[in-house]
Amino acid sequence: MSEKMDIRKIGVLTSGGDAPGMNAAVRAVVRTALSKGLEVVTINNGYEGLMNRDFKVCGLRDVSEIIVKGGTVLFSARSKRFNSPEGIAQAVSVCREEGIDGLVVIGGDGSFRGAKDLSEAGVPCVGIPGTIDNDIACSDYTIGFDTALNTAMVMIDALRDTMQSHGRCSVVQVMGRHAGHLAVNVGIACGACAILVPEYSYDFDKDIKERLIALRDTGKRNYIIIVAEGVMEDDPLLGVHKLADRITNETGIEARGTILGHIQRGGSPTTRDRVIGTNLGRHAVELLANGCGNRVVAVQNDNIVDYDIQEALAMKKVLSKELYETAKIVSI
Ligand code: F6P
Repeated sequence: MSEKMDIRKIGVLTSGGDAPGMNAAVRAVVRTALSKGLEVVTINNGYEGLMNRDFKVCGLRDVSEIIVKGGTVLFSARSKRFNSPEGIAQAVSVCREEGIDGLVVIGGDGSFRGAKDLSEAGVPCVGIPGTIDNDIACSDYTIGFDTALNTAMVMIDALRDTMQSHGRCSVVQVMGRHAGHLAVNVGIACGACAILVPEYSYDFDKDIKERLIALRDTGKRNYIIIVAEGVMEDDPLLGVHKLADRITNETGIEARGTILGHIQRGGSPTTRDRVIGTNLGRHAVELLANGCGNRVVAVQNDNIVDYDIQEALAMKKVLSKELYETAKIVSI
């Protein structure tokens, strides 16, 4: 469904898990809106802040310097209250009373479901994919992915140093929710011996034990194994520390488990996240300004495109099997 209406004032919020580059998108939304003569309000704490009227009218200089900052200057929340008919009704009446004609929502698919509900209730929304997981199917890329990859890479490179000194194996858990995009990409970048992702099955004996022993026999001294957090959902008893113990016991190679955790979500955004965040922000406002709501802006083959939110949510993102196989071929 796509709606057309007269837009004079828009709001922008960030919702769900924060991601580096969200601030670049916020800045672009504000400045594009102002350049078109629209009024713009920045909303704190996602949908929760919308329902609570936690927002302010934003001027050009209010978004100065934020492009370099990690996290989201608008703060973020996962609002349970908003995910109810009463919550949606409250958000709609706030928009009506405050004259907010449309919203830009920066976040992941949970945030887009809220944007769809609001659009259907008469407040046109445009979503911008922002999550370090890169798991939004309609878009090749989500804001924050590149920074998270680089942050994880630097951390894992540091682990490699100490693994090399001691001839050890590092079993590293990375984020990604249900997806293995972060795991596979950082695994390749760090020369991991094995990468475990929820999308593809693995066999401990063949993919870990025999591989590590064969690598040791070629003279290798450090071993990195990347485990996507989504793997633990299928096998909650696994855990990186337990896996490390099993490796130690069954290969004789001393192993240690490390959970990288939320450090992957922080830090100043990379060039890629700043540029893509900026481009998506501009396009989101252009859609809204033309009276189009219930859309998601996305990156496809380096172009900015847009989709109906419902259509976007129904799409499935596939982890490249080729990339996964490449990692296996070169980790020898
Ligand atoms: O979606 C981003 C993400 O960092 C996931 O990779 C992870 O599973 C989740 O958020 C963690 O959520 P929280 O910050 O609520 O612990």
